[in-house]
Amino acid sequence: MNKVTHIVSIGMLLAGSACQDLEHSRQVDNPQVRGKTIALQVCSNCHGVNGVSVSPTFPKLAGQRKEYLVDQLTDFKSHSRADPNAQRFMWGFTHLTDAQIDELATYFSSQPAVLGEASDLALINEGNAIYHSGLPDKGVSACMACHGQHGEGINQFPRLAGQHADYVMKQLKVFQQSDTRPRGAVMKAVCANMSDRDMRAVAAYVEVFPPEGEASVSPADDR
Ligand code: HEC
Ligand code: HEC
Repeated sequence: MNKVTHIVSIGMLLAGSACQDLEHSRQVDNPQVRGKTIALQVCSNCHGVNGVSVSPTFPKLAGQRKEYLVDQLTDFKSHSRADPNAQRFMWGFTHLTDAQIDELATYFSSQPAVLGEASDLALINEGNAIYHSGLPDKGVSACMACHGQHGEGINQFPRLAGQHADYVMKQLKVFQQSDTRPRGAVMKAVCANMSDRDMRAVAAYVEVFPPEGEASVSPADDR
């Protein structure tokens, strides 16, 4: 198939369907379509053109570690990441080739990450302490040890900085209460004894990721 035909066929797939309609994404099953094209025409409907999603149902992908993205897309493809939202929204992408997965991961990992807006500073400060020191009494390890000083992640350890708090909270629950994430054993151990409040606090912290000390500087600052 030549390039023009590709563009036309993608255009036709997109044409008849509303943006939120999942069906067209299941039909972009041509192995010749470039990852970036899929990113812009399909993934963008939920994750944003630059990987900065608006709704916390959809995780931000901008600046996420490439290796982590490859792992997750591979796990969705094999249906081994199996929490309800993964099934509902991501299980359709079984047709992605390894090359397309690689290109998609390259595209989203190279987009600039965007931090969220701070709201509840007391909660954020609590989360800051958990992120950097863990909760030794409860056997909760410091998140920083694996997710990086600035929440930037490394290789298979995902970036957390900027991620929607509600999504982070939800995934912590998935790790704690299920075995539906195939690479989740480490995280299951980390959050085994975390309370809802602990999870909410650390989730609120990573979404805004204020520089060291900033959150405690002036609670009056309504940043
Ligand atoms: C219809 C909406 C929708 C579309 C289209 C969509 N996604 Fe997703 N995606 C989701 C949802 C919802 C989740 C979160 C699943 C969960 O809660 O486990 C997700 C999760 C992910 C994750 C895991 C992120 C993380 O932080 O663990 C990756 C990677 C991903 N999507 C990549 C893509 C790519 C690449 C495409 C295009 C091929 C795409 N998505 C298209 C809704 C969508
Ligand atoms: C020993 C290393 C380690 C520690 C400590 C750790 N994590 Fe993780 N975390 C991981 C790994 C590895 C993954 C990827 C799991 C996967 O691929 O499913 C992960 C995934 C996550 C995810 C899912 C991200 C996404 O986009 O879906 C969240 C949220 C998370 N960790 C939060 C935390 C928090 C909060 C802490 C501290 C309380 C923490 N982690 C401590 C290793 C760690």
